[in-house]
Amino acid sequence: MDVLTFLVLILGLAYSLYIYSRSGKQADTVRIPPGPKPLPLIGNIFDLTAKELWVKATSLAQTYGPVFQLSILHPSLPISQPLIFLSSPEVCFDLLDKKGGIYADKPKLVMAGELCGYVQRVYTIKSSTTHPSLYRCDNMVAFTGYGSQSRRQRKLLGMALSKEKIPAYQGLIERETAGFLTGLLSAHSSSASSSTVSLPSKSTLPSRFLAYIPLIRRYAGQLTLSVIYGYTVPTSYTQNVHDKFLDMAEDCLDILSNGIASGGGIWLVDIFPWLKKAPKSFEFLPLFSFLPKSRAWKAKMIEFVEKPFEWVKAEMQKGTHKPSFCSTLLENPDAVVPSAETNRFKKRQSDISPELLSSWASVSSNAVKPTSSNAKGYAQFEFDLKWTANSMYSASGDTTVTTVMHYFLALLQDADSGSEVVRKARMELDLVTGLADDSPSTIKPRLPSLSDRYIDVDVPDGKGGTRRVKKPRFPYVEAVMSEVWRWGVVVPLNLPHRLTQDDVYTPPPSPSNPHPTPVLLRKGSLIFGNIWSILRSHELFGDDVDDFRPERYLLSTHEDNVLYGSHNHSYDEDEYEMIRRERRKRDPRSYVFGFGRRQCPGQNLVESSVWLLTATLLSTVDVRRPCVEGEDGKERVVRENVNFNNSVFRTPDPFGVDIRPRSEKALEVIMLAGESEEAESL
Ligand code: HEM
Repeated sequence: MDVLTFLVLILGLAYSLYIYSRSGKQADTVRIPPGPKPLPLIGNIFDLTAKELWVKATSLAQTYGPVFQLSILHPSLPISQPLIFLSSPEVCFDLLDKKGGIYADKPKLVMAGELCGYVQRVYTIKSSTTHPSLYRCDNMVAFTGYGSQSRRQRKLLGMALSKEKIPAYQGLIERETAGFLTGLLSAHSSSASSSTVSLPSKSTLPSRFLAYIPLIRRYAGQLTLSVIYGYTVPTSYTQNVHDKFLDMAEDCLDILSNGIASGGGIWLVDIFPWLKKAPKSFEFLPLFSFLPKSRAWKAKMIEFVEKPFEWVKAEMQKGTHKPSFCSTLLENPDAVVPSAETNRFKKRQSDISPELLSSWASVSSNAVKPTSSNAKGYAQFEFDLKWTANSMYSASGDTTVTTVMHYFLALLQDADSGSEVVRKARMELDLVTGLADDSPSTIKPRLPSLSDRYIDVDVPDGKGGTRRVKKPRFPYVEAVMSEVWRWGVVVPLNLPHRLTQDDVYTPPPSPSNPHPTPVLLRKGSLIFGNIWSILRSHELFGDDVDDFRPERYLLSTHEDNVLYGSHNHSYDEDEYEMIRRERRKRDPRSYVFGFGRRQCPGQNLVESSVWLLTATLLSTVDVRRPCVEGEDGKERVVRENVNFNNSVFRTPDPFGVDIRPRSEKALEVIMLAGESEEAESL
């Protein structure tokens, strides 16, 4: 297409859209959800903000109610894109959970799917098990349309990450937590990290105050790399050396969240797919800058998906692999990696329990994997496995980093106001870790472990007998963790779902709309569960929603008696259910991991890993604002304004934290645990 034809096409289309939007004004009688008035032609584009859209959406919900609509282009245009924001627990559950079958699809994105992943013509596919059109980002689980592919992928995810599988990772999680802590303290005291870095806030800080960020990335990356690919980063946490797979993930996650998914992941080319055919000579125009960008990003994405998977297969061929999710599912005498069987004796010890590995092996040999005689089916299986593996790795990075950054932000505030949160948490933890200065000498000082989290209690079952339930051993630490999820809100607008058929819904009455009438949600609308507005709801959490206050999650004595039984309390099923229902409604975990059939499959893993990280940090280190020497030679405390510039995750811009061991005793315990965990990983 030459430049002139292309210009004529654009002008022609713009004019016809304008005419259409004027005529649509009279014709449009369909009741769509309320929302700010769309402008002719462009719709609500000016109501969308690139930064913290969840805050704007929450304030719009106060005016328009818990179901409101914005539209990219005027809603009367057939190519307009409705964006529907759900802002209360009831509407999220009613639509995304109860009607999950029609609300489980994902946006069909030209930029993310087709342009940033599709490489059929430029990439030589070496493996005989691949088939065309594989390299699209929409093969990543979070982008996969709802259907047989997403169901197959989620089945694989369940095999690795369902609740009952998590104890198999206990050793790995404990090892990595100890490694992370050693790295943290070593970076803090190392002279090598005394260089300075500039922050987005224009201040400059010694790099040791920011060392926690790459260390969390490594921690999150190592957990999934071990489980999925059996890969161990060859250097310890105390050595600040780059690693091929961690660096690759870092680049690609940056591309995904700050590139492809910036501005909500919807590019102009997603609305006008024909823009992708623009001639190369147009690429100097800002409007078409997405084309060269997509080519560069695509190349990186392919590497990210292919390289770790190829690495597993190569290790299997040599027989030197650590058994992992991928290797166990690939392993089969008549599969593509025959020599793995003959070289079994060289295989290294896995980070995963033998029971889980053998459960994967048995599922793999019957239910999940077709035999190699069924070449097409096998290619499909390997394709699903490769993308599912990559999806687990990609999805765990930014989310875990963001959660830990929220934890540090909360602790900085706590330090400003006298460290009450830390004091109360330590009162519980010190009883088992023996890390207080005055802990009895009978308790051998140690780090917390995942086995410390619950105690078994027998509670009345309402039929005259008892049943065994798990009761949190450290209620205040649990409350801190719940408050980190609530206060931080890692993915404030959830990831968008797509509605696959028209739906009519009557929202529950709200103060802004006491007598709601049915609204039509159009097929193809993108649905955003506004988790931020729910977790900042005054109705659910009171007026101090912006404060970090774990106490809001502590059980009253009465609730404790009802839930966990007491000799002088008679069991009342209705009351028990009522308290559980109310607590579930206020529990951030009911929201922060998304909704319905697309809920986060990694939540059981992070629930364990983040708990241990939180409990370990609370037990062992003091967190303070950094201090730097001013021009007058005096120390001054650095107070930074924290900004949230990522449009998908509520990731704070880097901020400095001064992290030191709480005491000599804590330092000794950390170093000891770090050394033995390092030895174990080799
Ligand atoms: C730190 C905490 C994490 C948070 C807050 C979080 C949150 C979320 C949210 C909100 C979604 C979107 C759900 C929806 O569309 O309704 C999601 C999807 C997903 N998460 Fe997580 N996540 C976390 C960690 C992880 C980890 C560690 C893994 C894997 C090991 C993981 C794997 C995934 C995958 C594969 C999806 C896509 C699911 C689908 O679309 O079917 N996440 N997560």
